[in-house]
Amino acid sequence: MTDEFLNQFSTAGQRKERVGRLMSQILQETVIDSNARQKLRINLEIGCGHGHWLTNHAFQNPNEIFVGIDLISKRIEKAQAKVTKRSLKNLFFLKVEAKEFIEFLPTDFVIDKTYLMFPDPWPKHRHFKRRLIQDEFLHLLAKTSSKESFLFFRSDHIPYVEWTKEKISQSPYWEIVDQGFPFEHTSYFQDLLPSHQSITAHATHYHS
Ligand SMILES: C[S@@+](CC[C@H](N)C(=O)[O-])C[C@H]1O[C@@H](n2cnc3c(N)ncnc32)[C@H](O)[C@@H]1O
Repeated sequence: MTDEFLNQFSTAGQRKERVGRLMSQILQETVIDSNARQKLRINLEIGCGHGHWLTNHAFQNPNEIFVGIDLISKRIEKAQAKVTKRSLKNLFFLKVEAKEFIEFLPTDFVIDKTYLMFPDPWPKHRHFKRRLIQDEFLHLLAKTSSKESFLFFRSDHIPYVEWTKEKISQSPYWEIVDQGFPFEHTSYFQDLLPSHQSITAHATHYHS
């Protein structure tokens, strides 16, 4: 996170309120039946970059809600411009750190599908702890995910693919399944890279 952002939203409480504001906007703009008791299902892309892939996904699935998050303001601005250009009503972007977003997600929502495409691989051993896929992250995500939830992971960095397979196999909350991505379109990084591997995991616990 940039210093400027952290100066403006220096406490976890302020950042939580910010996530709450976007999510209430989503509730207001997308839920027609205000008496609906069911949680609102969202598709989440973590590290969405410029939003190229998610915009195409949302465009083709107008009845589902999509949220893209990224740490970098400029990328979120570019992603937001795509929403405006295509007048999409089911796609929202927010600059926010992934774990904070999941932690702060209001209880009216449940994550249906999570996409993590070409996440930073942190190849040096001393930086492995910075990788997003960790035991605690898988637990946190499972708690906020629906019982039908899927986690879709894609990377060109084979050691990170192996790391992710191992972490998921050891996790009591997810299991690897033989299922492809529900939507295929190149992302900005996928276009640049010669090859990649994908993993799909299905939630096994914390059914909402
Ligand atoms: C290598 S880029 C991939 C972008 C896009 N998914 C693609 O395939 O083109 C990784 C992105 O993840 C974002 N990112 C890294 N850590 C993050 C975190 N903890 N929370 C949210 N976004 C994160 C980075 O800012 C960056 O835009």
